[in-house]
Amino acid sequence: MAETLKIKIAPSILAADFSKLGQEITRAEQAGADLLHVDIMDGHFVPNLTIGPDVVRAVRRWTSLPLDVHLMIENPDRFFNSFCQAGANAIIFHVETGDVSKGIETLRRFGVECGLSLNPETPIEAVFDYLGDIDILLVMSVHPGFGGQNFIPESLQRIKKARQEATRANPKLDIAVDGGINDQTAPEVIAAGANVLVAGTALFRSKNMADSIKRLRP
Ligand code: DX5
Ligand code: ZN
Repeated sequence: MAETLKIKIAPSILAADFSKLGQEITRAEQAGADLLHVDIMDGHFVPNLTIGPDVVRAVRRWTSLPLDVHLMIENPDRFFNSFCQAGANAIIFHVETGDVSKGIETLRRFGVECGLSLNPETPIEAVFDYLGDIDILLVMSVHPGFGGQNFIPESLQRIKKARQEATRANPKLDIAVDGGINDQTAPEVIAAGANVLVAGTALFRSKNMADSIKRLRP
């Protein structure tokens, strides 16, 4: 059941000041982050570009926090090895891209945690067949590509359905939610069954991140 799973706060470094990324990560660490969320975009799957394996490697050297790498890229399997080598703890790829079963199998072989994500317009049922084989389901609650967007309210129902299904298929599944998480939406997504809260703007753009993280926790 969701209530027994640890609530984890995952600051998304997309909203950090990249000119001082190390300090920003230290700030998140000292504020009580449970892990870091790292957004990888290719300008094809989403209309934006971010960072690649070299930056992930540098972040890995800087912090001991777990790194969840969220691949918003086409043909994600081409980069599984690079991001694993760079030090990702979990690789999350999209159900809309490529051969999902093969992707899960490959990540298992690499020995990293395996996550699956889906866009707001993709039926939540699209991931149901895989829930027993993955560690993390990342429900996008905005259209991926940019930070600072508003939470899409229909996401709550999708999280609920996913948690119901996971209770049967994989009771320990981490259900993460990504996009528009703040102190208003956090209690709602937790009540719906999410236990990993990804937040960029609400954390990195706040003066006191420790306070902001506390406000996201139940
Ligand atoms: C959006 C990214 C998110 C983003 C969330 O495509 O996947 O991780 O950083 O940012 P906020 O919390 O600002 O909505
Ligand atoms: Zn993300």
